[in-house]
Formats: sequence, structure tokens, C-alpha cells
Amino acid sequence: MLRIPKSLRLSFSCFILIFHFLLMPAVPALADEGMWLPMLIQQKIPQMQELGFRLTAEDIYSVNRACLKDAIVHFGGGCTGEIISAEGLLITNHHCGYGQIQAHSTVEHDYLKDGFWARTRQEELPNKTLTVTFLRKMEDVTQQVLEGVTAQMSEVERQGQIEANIKTISELTLQGLDRKFYSARIAPAYYGNQYFLYLNETFRDVRLVGAPPSSIGKFGGDTDNWMWPRHTGDFSLFRIYAGQDNQPADYSPDNMPYRARYHLTISTKGVQPGDFTMVYGYPGRTQQYVLSPAVEYLVNRSNPQKIRLRTLRLDVMNREQAKDPAVRIQYANKNAGVSNSWKKWQGESRGIHNAGTIGKKQDFESRFQKWAESSGRHEYITLIPAMKELYSQLEPYMFASEMYAEAVMAVELLRFASTLESTFVRNGPARATEAARAFFKDYYKPIDQEIFELLFTEFYRVMEPLAHLLPKDTAEVQSLTAAGDFEQLTAAKDFAQLAASLYNTSVLTDHRKTMELLAKDSALALSQLREDPAFRLVDPFVRKNKDHIQTRITEISLDLNLLYRTWMQAIMEFDSERIFYPDANSTLRVTYGTVQGYSPVDAVTYMPVSTIEGIMQKDDPQVFDYDIPQSLRNIYAVRDFGHWESNGTVPVCFIATNHTSGGNSGSPVLNADGHLLGLNFDRVWEGTMSDIEFDPSVCRNISVDIRYVLFIMEKIGKADYLIEELDICED
Ligand code: ARG
Repeated sequence: MLRIPKSLRLSFSCFILIFHFLLMPAVPALADEGMWLPMLIQQKIPQMQELGFRLTAEDIYSVNRACLKDAIVHFGGGCTGEIISAEGLLITNHHCGYGQIQAHSTVEHDYLKDGFWARTRQEELPNKTLTVTFLRKMEDVTQQVLEGVTAQMSEVERQGQIEANIKTISELTLQGLDRKFYSARIAPAYYGNQYFLYLNETFRDVRLVGAPPSSIGKFGGDTDNWMWPRHTGDFSLFRIYAGQDNQPADYSPDNMPYRARYHLTISTKGVQPGDFTMVYGYPGRTQQYVLSPAVEYLVNRSNPQKIRLRTLRLDVMNREQAKDPAVRIQYANKNAGVSNSWKKWQGESRGIHNAGTIGKKQDFESRFQKWAESSGRHEYITLIPAMKELYSQLEPYMFASEMYAEAVMAVELLRFASTLESTFVRNGPARATEAARAFFKDYYKPIDQEIFELLFTEFYRVMEPLAHLLPKDTAEVQSLTAAGDFEQLTAAKDFAQLAASLYNTSVLTDHRKTMELLAKDSALALSQLREDPAFRLVDPFVRKNKDHIQTRITEISLDLNLLYRTWMQAIMEFDSERIFYPDANSTLRVTYGTVQGYSPVDAVTYMPVSTIEGIMQKDDPQVFDYDIPQSLRNIYAVRDFGHWESNGTVPVCFIATNHTSGGNSGSPVLNADGHLLGLNFDRVWEGTMSDIEFDPSVCRNISVDIRYVLFIMEKIGKADYLIEELDICED
């Protein structure tokens, strides 16, 4: 290192600062926005290096050698996970493994409550439907996908041609590969201005290895969810197993721990404000480029109504779960899922309001319109009016569709009746029986019956102006709801009576009776299933939704998508300074930023790092969400922090400016050398609108510090044998 006389150091660093300042682009704060395609990350490397990154594009993504991408998996289709040992050990969030942890839990072995630690490989627990998927390679296939597409084609014709091409590309890609474990996905970017091929490899034997008690893994519960300051130890451990040849295989006791091409090194150096961080994972869906009417619909209509419906459900679940430990376990995962979006939507609406997103978009649109008119390009001039017209057509169908999902299909009995019938038809009685067993493990009729009554009352109230989108032909229903007249009941809004008769007469609320029904001769079973009042009630809704709502949505969306494709081209021309990245679509992305606090409201500043001190401040045996295990209190009392201590405490969580979304849960947060600093698990309340607009002043991702994870593994889990598997570097 260059040695500088002490007296000169200050002025030298000042010089650097000033120099830096002069070189800074006009809008530096926007630098952290974006979710980048790993294959094209080269274009962002200079900016990343400016923030401290020390690796190359090849270290992030390469088809020629093992690299970071080979340590990342799409976990269970909805989360991200990463490999952290040579023997297939995988880490993800506690809330991502929650379903599996719950599935293995009973009142006697309550792994949700007490945590779970496999002491040997034999104790690692298989999970029937859990898969993890690696991206093996990606490719720009725009040309091949658009082959034969002409400007004269209608959108439907164009779509047909594209689908045919996609099929061909996919067939070619998968030649010689076992389709059970390999799949090709060809996904559009920028509304179909570009297409990328993803070749995926899926492992189907993934076992649960470890999880902290929920009082650590879900510390703060739904009270702290989506918020900072946060103190959640949101991690769980799994192991991928492969066949003897190290290739993906179905579950077998003979399978071996998978030797991945690459696994992450863990850094225990921790983070300082300003440090470079990078998140590598699978964000699900963002809508950065939508027009203002889409955002207006979201905040004025969709979010408030969905929130209202979910509040009704949550109130019932919370009350009943508090009464009975068995019900608490049964509804733990369902409740978390319902609550999660419920709370996010509230933050999102507020964030959009605070950021003035709608106004900004309207302003952008009117500036665009002027530009388009001055350019004289007809295609651009007519764009916004045409899109707005389509939005006004779309809105009622969209709303109805969301209400179907959030009300009709939110009734467990109705959803079960509908899916049981289709599973029976498609996959046969054995699979239907399996589905029924899974359903009844977590079914508590009183909750569902009350929810039916509340949701249907609300559903019929809000759908009143859209009555033409309700099933009319309920003649069959009425004869079967034992109370008689469905139409009369809905007209009278007597959903309590309807609920009572439905839940009394349907066989599908009863485990034993359902099993008896499914055990009958196949044809008889199916006809009785179809005669069940729950099926008779839900089926007209399913049909109405499919035939009259979803078909319309698909039609309008196709037209809208066509215009969005032009819109993307147009705004790239109009706003040529701006950097564009494709919206998230559950494909692998890189996002980067720095560790930063933020100011949520006037006169308040949040620091970016939380510690175990905050856990102790929140600790309260009387409050379920904050009641930590006694063992943690004991460790804290003697400050037995061991190796994981830093500045006299244990760091727990930190926030940074990485642009993440749902699906990024469990994603590795890497330092400038690509070493694991922590796991992404959330965003801050004020910044949840980043799916629509990323405001660098308040959008932060929340991560659990890997040192807290290791601390819990060692001190609470006594899982030294797992820690020994890891590659830990002190800096
Ligand atoms: N908000 C985080 C995410 O969207 C965590 C959700 C799980 N936690 C919970 N309390 N429900 O996935």
C-alpha cells in the first residue's frame, strides 16, 4: 500500500472526495436501481467496481467455468437458496422452508416452535414435493423466437408463430436430456422486445437439515414483518441429494449429498455503512414501466379491497389460533401467507402515495405525448390513448378476477372441492386421496365456515355493480344447498344460513367421509364428488371465471402487451439517458448497492445495522411475536457470543440499497469478493413500492447477518458439525 505521511492523509482523502465528486454523474443516487441479467452483467461492472466490487463478470456468470451462479438455486419455485458446502448444504430463509418445517411438525414434535437439527445425515428429513433448480445456462434467443414474425401479423398470429418457435427451441435445447430433471424456459424481456432461453436443472431430493425455533426464525412475526429495525434470524438449512452419479434423482435412501459445481465462501467480516453488497437471486415480478392507470387501479381499487378481504380472514384465524395449539400449527403457514401480502400491499400503497408515483407517471406521459406529437410518428402519438382505453376495458375483469381469487377461492372448502375434482380427473383417485390427506392435516372447519360467511358477504357486496360477472346459472346450486334457494339466500345476503347448510351437508368438510367417498369405485366416486354441495356451489364460479373473466383478461392483455412492446421502444428513445432493465419475471438476477440507513419520516434516521441488544429490548414473554427462547436469554446474560461477537455484541440484521423483490427471499447477500455476508429476507415498509418505483432514498432490502446465523447454529442449535462443513473466511 502507498504510504502517505500522516499530516497529508486528511488533505489527500479530501482530494479524493472532491475528485470523486467531479466525476460523479448528474443523478448518482439512481445507480442502485435495477435487476440485471447475469449474462449481461458486464455492462454494469464498472459501476459495481466504483462501489467497491472486486470481481469480474465471469465470476458472476460463466458457461465455461464454475462461478457464483452455480451456487444459486430457485428454491421451491418461490424463493432463492444458495449452496454453502461441498456436500450440498443449502441455506435459505426460515420463511421459505416454513411449509416443510410445518409439514414435519406435530404437537409432540413441534419443529416450528422448538426448531429442528438433524444430528446425522440419516436424520435429515425428505420433503415430497420440494425441488431446487439450478440455472445451467442462458442465451439471447430473440432472433430464433421472432423468426417468421412479420409486421403484418395480428398479435394473435404473432403469438402463434412465437409459441411455435419457442417449442422448437425448447425441443432442441432438451435433446438428449431427461425432461424430468431438465427444462427449458424461454421468457420475454421488455414485453417481448427480447427473449432469453434458460436451461434449468432440477433436483428432487431435498432434505431438511436445520431450522431455529420460530421465536428466532420468525422473531417479530407479522408485527415486525416488512419493517426496520428488524431482528429476525430468518434462515433454515437443507441438503440436496443426488444419485450415485451426482445427477438429479428422485428421492431414494441411497442418494448421496450433491457435490455442487460451486459453493459460497462465508465472510465473517460483517458490514459497515457504505460497503458494497450484491444480491443474486430470483425476484418474482415487478412493473417498473406501467402506465399511470395501472398504478391508479392498484392503489385506489385493488389493494384496498384485497386488504379488506384479508383482514376478515386474518381476524378469524388469529382468534382461533390463539385458542388452540393444534390449530396454531395447522394455520401457521396459511396465516403467514395471507398476512404477508396483506401487509405488503399496505406499505406499497403508502409508498406510492409518498413517492407521488401516479403524478410522476402522469407527468412523464404528458411529456412523452408532446414529444411523440412533435416527432410526428403516428404509432407513438396514438400509444397512450390506446393503452388507456384498453385499461378501462380491462379494469372490471381484473377486479372480478382478483375478487374471485381473494374471496371465492380463499374459502378452503371451495378451493378444495374444485381442485380435488380436477386432480381426480387428471391424475386419478390415488393422487386425489393424497391431496385430501394433505388438506385435512391442516383443516379446521370452524375457521373456514366463518371465513366463508364473511368473504361471501363482502364478495357479493363489492361485486354488485359487476353482477354480470357472477354466475347466474345457480339453479343447480340451489337444489343442492340443503337450505334450498341459493339465489334467495344470496339475494337476502343470508350467508350465515348458506354457510351453515353448506358446511353441514358437504362431505368434503369431513376427513373420514371424504376418504370413504374417494375409496369407492372410480366412476361412482367422481359422480358423488360432483354432486357434493361444495363442488356444486364452486363450479359455476370456476366456470364463470374461466369462460367470462380470464378469457377477456387474456384477450385484452394480449392487445395491451402489443402496445407495451412499442411503449418500451418508445420510452427508450424518448428517455435516452435512462438505464433500462427488464422487469423481474422469476429469472435469475443480480442487483447491487451499498449498506445504508435511511430516514423513514421527518426527524428520524435509521441506522443500517441491528444487534442482539435490540432482541433483548423487544423480548417479552407475554407477547407471542417477541418471546425468545430461554436459552437465548441465558446466553445473552453471560454474553457468551463466542466467535460471532463484534464490538461487544452480535450483529443481527442489516439493510442496503439492493433492488429486490418477492422471490429474492433467501438470496445470498455477497460482499465485494463474492463472499456470503447474509441472507436477504425482506424489504422495509416505506420501500415496498419498489416493484413499481424504486426510490433510492427509502428503498432498502433487509438481510440477516451470517454471523447471527452461525451464532444461532452454534449456540442454540449446537450444530458445530454443520459449521465444520462450511468455508468461513475472516475477511
Ligand atoms: N416479508 C417477507 C417476504 O415477503 C417475509 C415473509 C414471512 N414472514 C411473515 N411474518 N409472514 O417474504
